[in-house]
Amino acid sequence: MLNGKRILLIVGGGIAAFKALELIRLIRKAGGAVTPVLTQAGQEFVTPLSASALAAEKVYTDLFDLTDEAEMGHIELSRSADLVVVAPATADLIAKMANGHANDLASTLLMATDTPVLMAPAMNVRMWLHPANQRNVATLEADGIACVGPDEGDMACGEFGPGRLAEPEAILDAIIARLGEGPLTGKHVLVTSGPTHEPIDPVRYIANRSSGAQGSAIASALVRLGARVTFVTGPADAPHPQGANIVPVQTADEMLSAVNAALPADAAIFAAAVADWRVESATDSKIKKTKTGKPPALKLSENPDILATVARKRKDRPKLVIGFAAETDDVIANATAKRARKKCDWIVANDVSPETGIMGGTENAVTVIDKDGAESWPRASKTDVARRLASRIADALAK
Ligand code: C5P
Repeated sequence: MLNGKRILLIVGGGIAAFKALELIRLIRKAGGAVTPVLTQAGQEFVTPLSASALAAEKVYTDLFDLTDEAEMGHIELSRSADLVVVAPATADLIAKMANGHANDLASTLLMATDTPVLMAPAMNVRMWLHPANQRNVATLEADGIACVGPDEGDMACGEFGPGRLAEPEAILDAIIARLGEGPLTGKHVLVTSGPTHEPIDPVRYIANRSSGAQGSAIASALVRLGARVTFVTGPADAPHPQGANIVPVQTADEMLSAVNAALPADAAIFAAAVADWRVESATDSKIKKTKTGKPPALKLSENPDILATVARKRKDRPKLVIGFAAETDDVIANATAKRARKKCDWIVANDVSPETGIMGGTENAVTVIDKDGAESWPRASKTDVARRLASRIADALAK
């Protein structure tokens, strides 16, 4: 995937620095090479020896190490990589980068480089939200520095909120999206994901329990194989896939417009749980309770079937159109009938009965149905299901 591409990895000093070691391992496993640079504070959390052992490379720590200057100066070092990754990017490193400081090896490399930079911030939630940090991050983004994370969650300091380092897998996805090559390089793949929200009035809506986790995982897996991915998503809980072009929508109508705007594509995967119905005349003002206590009657009308619209014969029909069938009874029979009705090439069927724990869970058990029959895959993580599906898609598009 990374085909020998070199990452200059700058490790700042924060409790999340240990995850940089896992990132080194993942980058190498994906075929990349890593030159680690540890800041002085970074060395308090990660030793140069462990970074060097995992990278199987020399680790750089000191701007004024003359032996290193003889081997490779900081200017050359800063330009020797295909991508500079700062993980964790602490508040201090971010401030230095935003203001052009160059008073240690890491900040000097960041000033001297003409290579694209990706940063993965990690810090306490108050520090992340501090106006000074937010200003610095905005400055860096305006300078063209890409950012992955931070995630939201429990922090080592006992607080909760945004500030956690993105998971190493997500940082790797962001790296691959910038540098990677694979069997889907040059292909455009469209993915719909998440639920849709159909308004009743300005404050209420009809929705469903889709988390968007399987759709996000599929988009990530496709990015990893080199695809250019357009990810049209309803309001989902799952994190957006790194490296995809994200198009957020609310309603089925908006999703259809976004899908039409994204075509042509080589393949389209419809993982969204689109609401079948919308409220026919959603009101512009909030519906009030009446004195009589009579509840309002909601008249529903059918939403456009996005999958069926794209799958029917049309000039820009993708070569491969894949639908999902979330069923609770007669899964395979219903899904097979759905494939014929919607005229898609494959249907990915799954049993979403509550006892399976699949809807909103981390695992999935799917059956892929195509013109030749049904292939059931063992229950696995949504990430693994996504990878297997992405590789089946790559094979089909290669034919
Ligand atoms: O008919 P049903 O909702 O079960 O079909 C599921 C498949 O159709 C999924 O792939 C879903 O993304 C797609 N679909 C759609 N537009 C709709 C309803 C479903 O694209 N309005």
